[in-house]
Amino acid sequence: MSLIKHKFVETNISLMTVLVLVTVAIGGIVELVPLFTIESTIEKVRGVRPYSPLELAGRNIYIREGCYNCHSQMVRPFRDEVERYGHYSIAAESMYDHPFQWGSKRTGPDLARVGGKYSNDWHDLHLKNPRAVVPESIMPGYPFLAESDLDVADIADHLKALTYVGVPYSEEMIAAAHDDLVAQADPDGDWDAVQERYPGAVVGDFDGDPTRLTEMDALIAYLQMLGTLVDFSQYDADALRQ
Ligand code: HEC
Repeated sequence: MSLIKHKFVETNISLMTVLVLVTVAIGGIVELVPLFTIESTIEKVRGVRPYSPLELAGRNIYIREGCYNCHSQMVRPFRDEVERYGHYSIAAESMYDHPFQWGSKRTGPDLARVGGKYSNDWHDLHLKNPRAVVPESIMPGYPFLAESDLDVADIADHLKALTYVGVPYSEEMIAAAHDDLVAQADPDGDWDAVQERYPGAVVGDFDGDPTRLTEMDALIAYLQMLGTLVDFSQYDADALRQ
């Protein structure tokens, strides 16, 4: 009897299509619905904040120049990686990355924790001519970044656009985006305001030329904050949860 029913379904293509759709839909619902009911798939961790406008501009240059073709930004939880780069990356650290820069191609070292490892001057020299500081380096030079004025006109729009994908920039941050961007790299800028909105932001003149705001300033500001937001010296997953 059951054999006949099965044959009936298999030879009745319309009925079979409907039944297949129902089966697949149940599977899909079981997988998808829980994701809509939980607030976030990533746990918030203390210290993680959205990028400051200058860091964001630097990140855009990082992407534009294709640095990700040679550099990953994800320390994997293996002993050799942790000993070389520091604490392995946690999901919350890239929760405001759109798109994320994890990558798997490492012609050069991982950069997830490069912030604070070198001075601004080192980065400036290295980016202009890597061989000046690492003689055996095969990294290309980017001397033109120090010559190019940073295009800051659309930074507020950029912050606003990111709010649509869930980055918690406030109205105040968006309104102050342009001023914050300029101030972060200006020795006379209102650094307190920048650091209040973006705790831990590294401030200063990054490219050694305080008279100009260049793409080099933005890229170094970005590199100097990578991996610095979470205090791993006292890492305790429970204590860091927000
Ligand atoms: C063709 C591959 C390649 C590209 C593209 C590239 N790099 Fe590199 N990078 C390397 C290599 C190889 C090293 C290691 C030697 C050295 O320090 O120069 C390196 C080293 C670095 C370091 C030092 C890391 C450390 O921990 O010592 C930084 C910072 C860096 N690159 C940033 C960048 C940025 C920013 C860009 C894009 C503007 C970029 N790189 C593009 C290959 C590349």
